[in-house]
Amino acid sequence: MKIGIAADHGGYDLKEVIRPFLTGVGYKLTDFGATRLDNADDYPDFVVPLARAVAAGHVERGIAICGSGVGAAIAANKVPGVRAALIHEHFSAHQGVEDDEMNLLCLGGRVTGVNAAQELIVAFLEAKFTGAERHLRRLQKVQQLENKELR
Ligand code: RB5
Repeated sequence: MKIGIAADHGGYDLKEVIRPFLTGVGYKLTDFGATRLDNADDYPDFVVPLARAVAAGHVERGIAICGSGVGAAIAANKVPGVRAALIHEHFSAHQGVEDDEMNLLCLGGRVTGVNAAQELIVAFLEAKFTGAERHLRRLQKVQQLENKELR
């Protein structure tokens, strides 16, 4: 599976630990930056290119990390086709994919430790959308909202 990762300065340290972890377990990883720690950088500059790559199918899933994960989630969800969520616990890391077809996981580098982040990422990447009718119906409504067909 091809995946992408991005982080601002708040998520940079966690990203640098997660990168070798992911390639070590066999994922093809594209890094959308930041490529160095710069305390003045802005999360949209890294998260939006990642989100666009997820939406375009250049990578199957994305991981975006900022200090809290909040800004990353807000920015990523502005990109049509992206279903991003800030995740802190295991259940939502896989259920968000199974039920809601979440395609971009957001983490807080200042609130989630390395081991917990690895477990959340594995749960996210190994999960599959069930395709159940009720979930498809709900996703269709979200898509209609995105397409401005629903108010
Ligand atoms: C940057 O200091 C911080 O605000 C950012 O990484 C993130 O937490 C925003 O949600």
